[in-house]
Amino acid sequence: MPQELLERGKPLLELRGLRKNFGPVRALSEVDLTATAGEVTALCGDNGAGKSVTIKIISGIVVPDGGEIRWRGEPVHIHSPKDSAELGIATVYQDLALCDNLDIVQNMFLGRELSNMSVLDEAPMETAARRTLADLHVTTVRSIRQPVASLSGGQRQSVAVARAVLWNSQLMILDEPTAALGVAQTAMVLQLVRRLAEQGYGVMIVSHNLNDVFEVADRIAVLRLGEVVAEGPASGFDRQSVVEYMTTGRLTGRDGAPANSGVVAGSPGGAGRTEGEA
Ligand SMILES: Nc1ncnc2c1ncn2[C@@H]1O[C@H](COP(=O)(O)OP(=O)(O)O)[C@@H](O)[C@H]1O
Ligand SMILES: [Mg+2]
Repeated sequence: MPQELLERGKPLLELRGLRKNFGPVRALSEVDLTATAGEVTALCGDNGAGKSVTIKIISGIVVPDGGEIRWRGEPVHIHSPKDSAELGIATVYQDLALCDNLDIVQNMFLGRELSNMSVLDEAPMETAARRTLADLHVTTVRSIRQPVASLSGGQRQSVAVARAVLWNSQLMILDEPTAALGVAQTAMVLQLVRRLAEQGYGVMIVSHNLNDVFEVADRIAVLRLGEVVAEGPASGFDRQSVVEYMTTGRLTGRDGAPANSGVVAGSPGGAGRTEGEA
């Protein structure tokens, strides 16, 4: 486990006023979001809210038009996936990350194989892979030498996360990690998410599934039309309030979030779809 992780509760990644247009489409108009070491932050929002664009900016696939990104308190520019990875950010997509024909060890060391005089050093790679999986309590794989094609969806996610841990990532971003999983596999992935947070990693999870969100999240941020319309401790929300924020940007029939909930509600207007439309 990386030593620098122990500053639990400290912000790892802060997005401030992040903006992104695609031609006339305003995808993000004002995104403020913080991911904290030792916490799971859930990013919720309807289709088109800007979740994927936000994640793509963090992982260096999309470059923002404006706003600030801070990493461990310092302003940074993320212009490529390499920049993001070098900071210690790992994005785990549903299936993209792994090579089916390679085994678990090969996947975990892909591109960074240990070698000695151009001969691969299998023993230390196996040891490190086994230890990392054990630290994460991933116990269901039969052999670390089995091809990942033979793994279940949940196991594949676990290997992708273990790979990120092995390479000293500090913030794990999971985009809809349980979307294709059954009940048991979902439970396994959610347990892994909680374990990451307990070990001091920051986790940002995008999910449509509010059951998952309430099971794992410490904090919830709701995006709507490219703006964060509410953000706060998960305990300050319930399913209905998340859905209301997602759909209308505000709580109807109430005077906003209860004063003691810790939830900060933003402007209910949303970004609007196109420039000049509002
Ligand atoms: N590459 C792109 N080109 C044009 N518009 C895009 C692009 N990527 C995303 N958008 C638009 O930005 C908005 C936010 O999209 P996205 O972040 O994918 O939403 P979601 O919350 O469903 O992940 C949508 O209106 C979407 O159509
Ligand atoms: Mg998306």
